[in-house]
This record gives sequence, C-alpha cells and structure tokens, in this order.
Amino acid sequence: MASWWLTTALFALSRCVAAQQERISPQNNTFNSSFSLSPSQISSANLNNVTANNVNIAIRFERTNWATGSVLTDPFYAPPLNASSAPSGSILKVEDYTDTTLYTLPPNVALSRIVYQSSTYRLDHANTPVPASAFILWPWHPRIDPATGKYAVVAWAHGTSGIFGECAPSHIRNLWYQYSAPFILALQGYVVVAPDYTGLGVDRWPNGTRIQHPAFNNPAHANDLFYAVEAAQMAYPDELSERFVVFGHSQGGGAAWGAAQRQARQPVEGYLGTIAASPVTDIPLQYRITPDVGWPIDLVPGLAATIPDFDTSDILTPEGARRYDLLAEIGGCASAYLQLYYQGELVKPGWATTPAMQEFQNLTGNGQRPISGPMLVLQGTGDVVISTNLTTHFVDETCALYPDSEIEYAAFEGADHVPTLFASQRIWLDWIAERFEGKSVKKGCGTKETYRPARRVGAYQKELGYYLEFATQSYEVA
Ligand SMILES: *[C@@H]1O[C@H](CO)[C@@H](O)[C@H](O)[C@H]1NC(C)=O
Ligand SMILES: *[C@@H]1O[C@H](CO)[C@@H](O)[C@H](O)[C@H]1NC(C)=O
Ligand SMILES: *[C@@H]1O[C@H](CO)[C@@H](O)[C@H](O)[C@H]1NC(C)=O
Ligand SMILES: *[C@@H]1O[C@H](CO)[C@@H](O)[C@H](O)[C@H]1NC(C)=O
Ligand SMILES: *[C@@H]1O[C@H](CO)[C@@H](O)[C@H](O)[C@H]1NC(C)=O
Ligand SMILES: *[C@@H]1O[C@H](CO)[C@@H](O)[C@H](O)[C@H]1NC(C)=O
Ligand SMILES: *[C@@H]1O[C@H](CO)[C@@H](O)[C@H](O)[C@H]1NC(C)=O
Repeated sequence: MASWWLTTALFALSRCVAAQQERISPQNNTFNSSFSLSPSQISSANLNNVTANNVNIAIRFERTNWATGSVLTDPFYAPPLNASSAPSGSILKVEDYTDTTLYTLPPNVALSRIVYQSSTYRLDHANTPVPASAFILWPWHPRIDPATGKYAVVAWAHGTSGIFGECAPSHIRNLWYQYSAPFILALQGYVVVAPDYTGLGVDRWPNGTRIQHPAFNNPAHANDLFYAVEAAQMAYPDELSERFVVFGHSQGGGAAWGAAQRQARQPVEGYLGTIAASPVTDIPLQYRITPDVGWPIDLVPGLAATIPDFDTSDILTPEGARRYDLLAEIGGCASAYLQLYYQGELVKPGWATTPAMQEFQNLTGNGQRPISGPMLVLQGTGDVVISTNLTTHFVDETCALYPDSEIEYAAFEGADHVPTLFASQRIWLDWIAERFEGKSVKKGCGTKETYRPARRVGAYQKELGYYLEFATQSYEVA
C-alpha cells in the first residue's frame, strides 16, 4: 500500500516538476466549422427557421469532426487514373502511415488508409469494378493467426453514417464506430480492415463523374468487404493473415449477412465466418414495424445505383426530392439528415411496394437464401431501429429452408441498437477468437440463446451518452 502511494506520488510530482507551468483555460466549444445554409438553399428546400438552424448546427458538428478535411479536398480520396481499369480486389493507393493526431484514436493504435477496387452489384448485372476507400487499424500487439503465423484480420462493416462522400468513416475523427467495435477489436489484437463502402470517401471517378453509394445493397457492401480485405492483403502480404472474420452492425450487419450469402455463391479462401449484429434484412417489412425510422431518403442512392430505371420520384415527393438534393449539395451525413427529415411530407405513401423497391429487396435482401460458413447473429430485444421479430423471423426462415446453415442466434434483453454491441462484447470477442483457433461452431441451425443482464435492465446505462473529442488542455489528459 505504502509503496503504491509513494510511486503514485512520485509520478505525479515528476510530471509537475518536469513541465513548465502553463496558464490553463476552460475548453471552449470545439465546433470550429462556421457552415451556414444560404438564403437560396433555405428557400428552395422550403426549410422552416428551426430546421435551417438545426441543419446549420448539425453540419458544423459533422465538419468539425472531419479528421482530414473534406473528401473533396483531401487528395487521398481522388482515385488514380487506373481506377477506371484495374480489376476488383486490386490495390490502387496506400497511405501507409495516416497521421493519428488528426483522429481521436486510443493510444497505441496505428492507422493506414487504402484505395482499392471493389465491384458494383446491379439488377441488370452490368457490374463493373469501382474504386473505394477503407481504413486499416493496427494493434500495438497483434494476435497471430496460428494457421498462417501472420496477424489475425477482422473485416469491419459500419452502420449507417450517411449516404454521400463526406460520410466516410475513414475521414471521421472517431472512425464513426469508435469504441462500439473497431477500437475494441484493435485493442484486442485484431488488424481491422474497414471499408467506407462504395461511394463514401471516394465518390467520383477520375473523370469527375459521381459514384453513388449503393446504400443497403447488401451484396454490394459484401463486395466492399471481400475486396478491401484482398487489397489490404496485397498491400501488406507479410503482415496480414489470409484468414479473416467479417463483423458488422446495422447496415453493416446487413453487409455481414450478405457476406455469408456471397460466400455461398462466390467462395473466398480464408473466410472464417461472419457476425451480423442488429442486421438489416428486409427494409419494406422493417418499415412496416418502425415507420418513424427514416429509411426512404437513405435508400435513394442505393436504388439509383442498383435499379437501372429507378427515378427519385418513385419514392420521394417533390419536397422530399428537394430535401435530398440539398443534403447532397451540402454533403450532409447522419446528423444533418436527421434534422432535415422531420419537416414536411417527403415520402410517397406506397414507396415500399413500388416495383423498384420490390426488385431491390428481391435482389439484395438477406435471409431465406443459402449461406456458407458460420454466422453469429446478435440482436438486442430493446432495439428501436431493427426489430427483434424480424431478425428472429429471418433466422428461422433461413434455417427452415437451409437446415445445414451454421447459424447461431444470440439475443440481449433490453439492449438498444448500437448498445447491443456493448452488451454482447464478450460474446463476439470469444466467437472471433474461436474461429481463428479452428473451434467448430454449435451444432444445429439457429441455436438460440437469450442473455439476461446481471442487474435489472433499467439499472444499465441504455444509450451512448458521449462522443469523442480532442482534449485541448493539459489538465484534461492528466
Ligand atoms: C476560447 O474562446 C475565446 C473567445 O472566442 C478566445 O478568446 C480564447 O482564445 C479561446 N480559448 C481557447 C483555449 O481556444
Ligand atoms: C478546425 O480545427 C482543426 C484542428 O483542430 C483544423 O485542422 C481545421 O482546419 C479547423 N477548421 C476550421 C474550419 O477552422
Ligand atoms: C431564425 O429566426 C431568427 C429570429 O427571426 C433569426 O435570428 C435566425 O437567424 C433565423 N435562423 C435561420 C437559420 O434562418
Ligand atoms: C467517367 O468514367 C467512368 C468510369 O470509367 C465512366 O463509366 C463514365 O461514363 C465516364 N463519364 C464521362 C462523362 O465520360
Ligand atoms: C494503380 O496506380 C498506382 C499509382 O498511381 C499504383 O501504385 C498501383 O499499384 C496501381 N494499381 C494497379 C492495380 O494497377
Ligand atoms: C426475384 O429474383 C429472382 C432471381 O433471384 C427472380 O427469378 C424473380 O423473378 C425475382 N422476382 C421479382 C418479383 O423481381
Ligand atoms: C413481435 O412479436 C410478438 C409476438 O409474436 C408480438 O407480440 C409483438 O407485437 C411483435 N412486435 C413487433 C414490433 O412487431
């Protein structure tokens, strides 16, 4: 006890005497974006004063949290000329050492960014290679995959950050999902390969033509996952294991489930399995259960990039279309989108049963299709975005049709959408470790487990009540 006290006191003292005394100040509001909608933007999108004010603040928040400025000015996101011709899975650009001081990473985690070639996934099968960006998080002390002697890799698929170029996690200071998963994976020794998804980050061809984000097109996101891993392995052949686990949440949970379905169609060597947390399965059905969640505007670029004859007016009202155009013009992401969505009638009643939406769901949906390899599905029963019923339904239906599927289903009592990742953290970490150890998964499709908390549900912190920002004052990092 005494020696502990003494060491601590000496440590504190040494910090005191070593540093020059400085005058300290309170930390100011760290918003330093001064974005403001122009009067013509406000009037053409028919925004009321409150919406305009809220959008301004949300955009300032988003821009303040860009690590490397706009993707339109950060040269990293400009694809090289060979982006028009290189095959899917090839590496186009490597930023080996990204400046970690621009991000709010945990200490002793390093960052790289890559531009690689993914592939589109369209109804007309006119699929082409398309450039996309990804980040790689490096642990200080990586786990070694016993099969290859190289670093164990997890491909991370993020939940919805927005639908335009600026919404790329790789240029957001906290990498968007921060301690909800990617930081934890890196701190637990996994090299995290995390695609931004096509159209986020790299959002134009070398000739300047826009690349749309195929939002909620699960097979397209699955392409991003597999090709980002392939390209990362090409960039770091001596470090990265050929074997990897896929893990995603929400939109990324849909991507992760889509990866298991892709693996059944188009097997990739080294794939060890997938974790689909709070996954998107069937958007029209989900919308019937939770009509307040703002799916339709988010779906526009996904439909446009997938269904050749889709027109925005299929699902949005003229007012909705103007709102979408404004969001595109100002590069608004998740925070701005929420503010824009709450005013007016933006969506056409029947949008979920339009031919375009039905074709999209039929082509890109999850469930009731074969999967390959082990899949763990995680779902919080208090999830207000993704219905437990729907996830259960698609696990059950997939098992009924394909009883040999290796699906495990774990539910977490009372846990909400992103917080499910915290309730389930031990489960997913163990599951990932077991895949690298070569342990076989539980027998029987759809083995279900419901986990209950040690204390009553209401005793737990329910939501994320923080976001990461820089400490600017010495006393804040004491
Ligand atoms: C905080 O804001 C005030 C007023 O804008 C400014 O004078 C001061 O320098 C700022 N302090 C810091 C630490 O940035
Ligand atoms: C905001 O501050 C960051 C550094 O903290 C700086 O890189 C960025 O350029 C600033 N942005 C504006 C709009 O002043
Ligand atoms: C909203 O109205 C108030 C009071 O009329 C005005 O001060 C403010 O600038 C307006 N905000 C926007 C974003 O137009
Ligand atoms: C720009 O390049 C892309 C990819 O090569 C091509 O699909 C598109 O048609 C080009 N756009 C124009 C305007 O040339
Ligand atoms: C594309 O060009 C970049 C240089 O601009 C090069 O580093 C990369 O290896 C090329 N990739 C392919 C697949 O040709
Ligand atoms: C759904 O997709 C299958 C092929 O995957 C196709 O045969 C069928 O016609 C599609 N149905 C609709 C309604 O688009
Ligand atoms: C989920 O299913 C249960 C039992 O079938 C039902 O009572 C409940 O209303 C459903 N909840 C939703 C959100 O559909």
